[in-house]
Amino acid sequence: MTKTDINFKFVEFLNEVYAAENAAVDRINLRIKETPFPELQQRLGQHLQETISQQNRLSQIIFKLGGEPTDAKAHLPELKPPMTTMLKKAIQDTVKSITDENKNNPLPEELELLRIKQDMIIEYSEIVTYRALIEMAQRMPGLDIDIIIPLLKHNLDEEISMEKWCSDKLSLVVDKLLPNIISAIKN
Ligand SMILES: [Fe+2]
Repeated sequence: MTKTDINFKFVEFLNEVYAAENAAVDRINLRIKETPFPELQQRLGQHLQETISQQNRLSQIIFKLGGEPTDAKAHLPELKPPMTTMLKKAIQDTVKSITDENKNNPLPEELELLRIKQDMIIEYSEIVTYRALIEMAQRMPGLDIDIIIPLLKHNLDEEISMEKWCSDKLSLVVDKLLPNIISAIKN
């Protein structure tokens, strides 16, 4: 096991994260367009810039270790409702008469709530990924951790701050979305 072997193994781990950040850029761009909450749009815009800086920090480490940042896009963690809930409602609707009032369709508020939960799950998974990467960097022999760890820590701190912002706003978001969900039950 040479120093080059170690470096290449660590580049593999870094590229796993890099692929997740590639996918995160697409996801954040999509969420900026679709969320009805201007404050979230703005915070997502900030996090898009942070995510691009995170990619730059990762590339810096990857190049230093003699690797190339990947173009691949990871499959981000998802929150898929079971067939018995929203998806089933949407499928049922496709076989219904067009005169039906679409009462069983998921409401835009339900979909937004689902997507906000997904946003948070993605941030949680990034936090876990960077924490694991830092733990690994500390244990892999011969890595220049004085340079690598502060860069990874910077990325981790931005993910923690994004997740905290979302958690802090969760009750406000539920306050805005839930009344329409409840009134749709009554009607
Ligand atoms: Fe993130």
